[in-house]
Amino acid sequence: MRRSEGTGAAMWRNKCGDGPRATPNVAKMWRRAPSPGKTAAMSSISFSRRVPGDPAPTPWAELVAEAQARGAIVVDLTLSNPTRAGVSYPDSLLSCLADPRGNIYAPRPLGEHAARRAVSELYNARGFALRPEDVVLTASTSEAYSYLFKLFCDPGDRVLAPTPSYPLFEHLARLESIQLQPYGLAYDGDWHLDVASLPKAAATGSGRIKMALAVSPNNPTGSCLNAGELARLGECSAVVISDEVFASYPLGDALLPSALDCDDTFPRVVLGGLSKELGLPQLKLGWMLLGGPPAFREATRRRLELICDTFLSVNTPVQLGLTELIREAAPVRDSIQRRVRRNYAALQSALAGGAATLLRASGGWYACVRLPGTADDEHWAARLLRRGVLVQPGYFYDLPFEASIVLSLLTEPQDLDQGVRELLQVLRDA
Ligand SMILES: Cc1ncc(COP(=O)(O)O)c(C=O)c1O
Repeated sequence: MRRSEGTGAAMWRNKCGDGPRATPNVAKMWRRAPSPGKTAAMSSISFSRRVPGDPAPTPWAELVAEAQARGAIVVDLTLSNPTRAGVSYPDSLLSCLADPRGNIYAPRPLGEHAARRAVSELYNARGFALRPEDVVLTASTSEAYSYLFKLFCDPGDRVLAPTPSYPLFEHLARLESIQLQPYGLAYDGDWHLDVASLPKAAATGSGRIKMALAVSPNNPTGSCLNAGELARLGECSAVVISDEVFASYPLGDALLPSALDCDDTFPRVVLGGLSKELGLPQLKLGWMLLGGPPAFREATRRRLELICDTFLSVNTPVQLGLTELIREAAPVRDSIQRRVRRNYAALQSALAGGAATLLRASGGWYACVRLPGTADDEHWAARLLRRGVLVQPGYFYDLPFEASIVLSLLTEPQDLDQGVRELLQVLRDA
């Protein structure tokens, strides 16, 4: 495991990169550049500490960029952009965005009622009792996080966040001037909440703990928190935010647990969105599902309405087309689901009994592979890169092992298989 030397800004990289938060972990690909010193023109300018200084690539990012420039990357096992994964999308899928009603601008802060109903029906069809009134639309899950931080936290407040997990939390939190207080997920043949990390997390630091974040299935571990574990998080904070953007992608036959199943005494907000649900990140639509006591939902909804009304960021065409999109893009979700399951099963059989261990995952788009501790994450990743295979070192996500890598299960099967063959060769050569 090798820690990055400070993390830089996912934001800038994402703006010019190829993917949407396609590589959330680009957060770990940048470090703070040495200050060039202030010119006269800049001497009176002061930037907020919420935005890190000029980012510079880490040595790992430089190595990757150099391999890319040479055209030496043959297999990319970091892919997380479904629209670039060779998944087929129906040709006419986006024709519903041309609804002429979209020519009129008549924004509703919480979202068009028909679109909120479409989301509630999506969940009702899966057996969850969800009312359209408890659905609030945003332009993305990231935006939902920023609204929830504004809603429940004041600057300096602390929020419990899982580790290992989604690297973008660091930036989302920093932009809202809140502090993340990590709690652990531990692995002993399966992932579970490290309960011992909770009281410690709650007792340390100065600000108050206002929220607890959970990601189920988690990125990248693919693990879920069960109802008892969510309840433990609830004991440490006022409200639990359960990010379930990958919930439609179980890797086995078991149903994945959801915070939507918790009883109504438990204040919570569940997150989802088109980006993962239907493999449509470019349409920019996410949602928050309010759960818990009616008074909590009512007070939360009223305040969210004010925040949403300030930005009005969700576009009209996607809301008008949502019912049709959910219906027409179902085959896209099914293809992605088949792909990730197939790839996970292929990894299971290729790595069984060898020096690399595939960690148990319940769902999602990623697989974590533990490697012998004879070299650290980055050395293993660099050996693979020399053979033309790009993977993510496990430290991008703070995986708690001497050596590990993260692979995307979205990758086209022939690429995944080739990457695994190279991995086995690298292990034999080590
Ligand atoms: C756990 C998790 N939540 C949210 C997102 C981002 O979703 P959105 O595109 O809706 O902002 C990602 C993207 O990779 C993710 O991994």
